[in-house]
Amino acid sequence: MRNNIVFEGADQLTYEIREIVDIAEKIEKTGVKIVWNNIGDPVAKGEKIPEWIKEIVAETVKNDDKSYAYSPTRGLLATREYIAKERNLEGGIQITPEDILFFNGLGDAISKVYTYLNSKARVIGPNPAYSTHSSAEAGHADAPHITYKLDPNNHWYPDLDDMRTKIKANKNICGILIINPDNPTGMVYPQEILKKIVDIAREFKLFIISDEIYSNLFYGVEHKKLASVIGEVPGLALRGISKEFPWPGSRCGWAEFYNCDKDKDFARYAKTLLDAKRLEVCSTTLPQKVLPKVMSDTRYYPYLAERNKIYQKKSEIAYESFSKIPELIVHKPNGAYYMTIVFKNGVLNNKQKLLPANPGAWKIIEGISETDKLDKRFVYQLLASKGICVVPLSSGFNSDLYGFRIVLLEPDEKKFKQNIETIADAIKEYLKSK
Ligand SMILES: Cc1ncc(COP(=O)(O)O)c(C=O)c1O
Repeated sequence: MRNNIVFEGADQLTYEIREIVDIAEKIEKTGVKIVWNNIGDPVAKGEKIPEWIKEIVAETVKNDDKSYAYSPTRGLLATREYIAKERNLEGGIQITPEDILFFNGLGDAISKVYTYLNSKARVIGPNPAYSTHSSAEAGHADAPHITYKLDPNNHWYPDLDDMRTKIKANKNICGILIINPDNPTGMVYPQEILKKIVDIAREFKLFIISDEIYSNLFYGVEHKKLASVIGEVPGLALRGISKEFPWPGSRCGWAEFYNCDKDKDFARYAKTLLDAKRLEVCSTTLPQKVLPKVMSDTRYYPYLAERNKIYQKKSEIAYESFSKIPELIVHKPNGAYYMTIVFKNGVLNNKQKLLPANPGAWKIIEGISETDKLDKRFVYQLLASKGICVVPLSSGFNSDLYGFRIVLLEPDEKKFKQNIETIADAIKEYLKSK
């Protein structure tokens, strides 16, 4: 090439949640049956879409030709009106349809949120981190993502002293990211903590990004949105239907902008995102058409409550099993459908081993197994030995902790329990093998 064509932040773009799939597929070819416990797609894991949702989609596809058309760049007006009305009924900050911008899923939103942020402006995010955010943020700045700790010894709540210290020390930090409910920990932010984060943002003149894609998936606690506490601080909330309906293939999500009228830089930034979206014309139309029909249906919230009950039950099953292993730190999640298990300091080493299912499977992971990331070493051996695919915390979630994330999506409770017990037994075998 005449000039360097490689994007400066290219090395920051990693997504272990899907990268591990390539390895798992190779292992599958050696005859090992793989249990996919790595990806947060309820449909891929076999959850059934309610018939009444399918009927709404089918009726729209059949009778509404406009569902095949482009939509306005911001999104369909009727849909934005519906979202704004629902948001305002919840109390907290009030918005108008003009404060809403649709994207082709939150993956698209996240990419634009960081791409169109000044490259010197940094957003501090949680550790463990969800890699779509952390990689995109790191890529935009061509520097490692800056994080605050989520504390596994305190319900995975954020360490606000750590957040404040890092913000104080780094003048480039302009924004705080929260994911609520959180991926990968399943933690739900108590409203008191949200208020303290807003206080920090106010004190240092920052904006807040709140990823609320799981905001209707929570159990055992109350969930409060950023909108309930944001006051006059600039912020944006990200929501979508991938997890809720669930319809991840629809590629439909949206941003709600708060307090553009109170900060002209934030307003300019929000307009840049709209302008960037304009270059692309618009986002997917059909899911926007059906969104108000599905969400306003009297069956919608009971349906979500039912799903939440099932996730809660599975979180209890997993907790029951893992909490018996003294070398682990385990918390029952309260939201989304993930759980993160941490190995206590010093319990892993690079001699531990699981018997591989066959020599071919071992050959595939032998090299990876030499990594100095000791949780990744365990996760790949678990894959080659038991065929269970989970995601390591260090390489998958940009974390300095060793552990792994499981998903609570297996619809068959008996199978789910068996898989959890297999992982728990494998941990015991691995730790004993030193
Ligand atoms: C926290 C979080 N945000 C955003 C996304 C992406 O969602 P979408 O399907 O809307 O791109 C995910 C997907 O797993 C997620 O976990």
